[in-house]
Order: sequence, then structure tokens, then C-alpha cells
Amino acid sequence: MLSITKGQVIQTALPQPPKPGLSAEAFAPSNIALCKYWGKRNAELNLPVNASLSISLGDLGSRTQIQPADEDQVWLNGERLAPESSFSRKVISFIDLFRRGLQQPVRVDTQNTIPTSAGLASSASGFAALMLVLNNFYQLNLSTQQLSAFARMGSGSASRSLFNGFVEWHKGHRDDGMDSFAEPLSQTWPGFCIGLLKLCTTEKKVDSRAGMQRTLESAPLYQAWPTQAAQDLQTLKQAICRRDFTRLGETAEQNALSMHATMIASWPPLLYWQPESVAAMQRVWALRAQGTEIYLTMDAGPNLKLLFQEADRGAVMSVFPELQAVDIVAPFD
Ligand code: DP6
Repeated sequence: MLSITKGQVIQTALPQPPKPGLSAEAFAPSNIALCKYWGKRNAELNLPVNASLSISLGDLGSRTQIQPADEDQVWLNGERLAPESSFSRKVISFIDLFRRGLQQPVRVDTQNTIPTSAGLASSASGFAALMLVLNNFYQLNLSTQQLSAFARMGSGSASRSLFNGFVEWHKGHRDDGMDSFAEPLSQTWPGFCIGLLKLCTTEKKVDSRAGMQRTLESAPLYQAWPTQAAQDLQTLKQAICRRDFTRLGETAEQNALSMHATMIASWPPLLYWQPESVAAMQRVWALRAQGTEIYLTMDAGPNLKLLFQEADRGAVMSVFPELQAVDIVAPFD
């Protein structure tokens, strides 16, 4: 059976033509998954195999503006990008989904407030901010659930970047994916810190989309992943309710390492780690062995994200002085 296209999903939800305004601007935060999204059950719509849970990074994210122009233009951090660049093409084809044949070129400007040195992917906050500006600019009046489901069609993790704090992305069951959207949890956690540890500048050779596909197709270990992810998600939600940092940290770290184990067991093998990543993991484990509650998580790249509590900031900084080079984010301060 042929899968429903993004265009068909949008056409069904938005039968009226878009009504462009004068300009629009929006911000969306970046997010770090504590229970990872890894694997698509539908690659056209970015429908995930498993539900996931993230924490948003406050004011680190993407700010995007849109306005009419003589020709389509995509700007990133103050620089105009070549129309054939992959970022430009992704942005314009996402806009086309909502512009739907309307002959009106636009200029889109995106500023990432995440320092590029932080080694964080910006597709999540980028597509979430773009979705918000398109909703305003074309006066689409989408509900929060629709905004999240449509941002997901740009990049899966963007579904979670529309909200602050802890966010759960429901995997959904429908073929058109309209029940696969994210929602914020009501719980807060003052003093919860995330440190971004940038270790390498090497470009990643295999992006998340291709990496997930390879894992699904070739790693027998992946069979265990959906069950583990479902359990981890429940454990994390419970830990958040109880503010049980040990349980949260252990679960998030094990979830990230399990995801990486499935990638490593793909063929050809998919290893995002560099020697520096392993050395940093060992420093995290050594610090933990000395009694500091610190945990790590990693995405499809060589850098680490560290989870700790405000009370341990001093101890963490003494072992990871390079953490000063990037932001330490306490999302609920
Ligand atoms: C490892 O959302 O970037 O960061 O849907 O193909 O755009 P696409 O993938 P993307 O994948 C993120 C994968 C991850 C885990 C996570 O953020 O949940």
C-alpha cells in the first residue's frame, strides 16, 4: 500500500488556501531526548517506531522570520544560502507544503541562538520555529497538536521543540500520523542542569534519517529497542514525577547507550563516537564513582550532553572545565 504523502495530510487538514500576511516571527527551543527517537515506521511522514521524551533548552534554539520577497531566499545566521544547499531545499520544500501553489516568494531568516560551538543539531528547533512562523504568516490557525504533528513532518524531533520543559512525543497509530504529536508534561524540576560538551568538529557522515534506516534494516539488536524504549519512557515519567534524579539519570544514560548499541550493530557499522567521546564517558563514570550524580546522553554525533543538578555544578565544572565554553542550561530557572 502506498503511504499517504505530506501534501495529502496537509490538504486534508487545511482545505482553505493560505492567506499570507505581512511578516511573522517565532522562536522555538532546542531539545535533548532522555528517551530517544530512533527508527521510523513511516519515513515520508517521520512517524516513529517508539514514543520519546525530551527536555527543552530554554532560550537556546532558533528564531525565524518570514516576509514576502522578489524570489525565495533562505538566510541562516545572517548569511544567504545557495538555493541548492540542503538546508535551503529543506526549508523551501517545507514552505511549499503550506504555500500550496500560491505564487508568492518569501525570504526566511533563521538565527540559531545555540552557539554553533555547542555541537547541537538545530533541525528540531529550526523546523519548530518555521512551523510557528508559517502558522502566523499564512493565518492557518492550527491547534497545538496540529502544529506539533506538522513540525514532525519537517524533522521528527521538531515535534518536541514547540514546548518548554519536559515533553513527550506520542508515537501514534494512525496512517496519516495526526495522532503522532508531542505534549509538554506538567512537572517542573528546578535545579535540573544540562551541560553541552562539545568534543569534535568532525562533520557527521551519516545523518539521523539515514542512520535510523540503516539500523532498522540491518541490526538484529534493534528488535529489542521498541520494548526497551517504551519501558524507559514510563520509568522516566515516574522519575520526573518523584524528582528522582538517580532513576532519571540512570535510565536516560542507559537509553542513549542502548540506542548507540543498536547503531553499532548495524551493517555497515554505524559508530558516531570518537576517541574523545569515549574518554569523556570515562571521565563521567569516574566522577560518578566518586559520588557526584552526573549522567550522560548522546545523539547521532560524537558530543556528550551531561545531566546533573545545580548543587553539583561546582564538582562537574572542576572535572569538565571545557563545559564553560558552552552553555549550561537549567531549563526551569
Ligand atoms: C538521536 O529528528 O533529527 O537525536 O526525523 O530524520 O529529521 P529526522 O531525525 P531527527 O532525529 C533525532 C534523533 C536523535 C534522538 C532524539 O532526538 O530523539
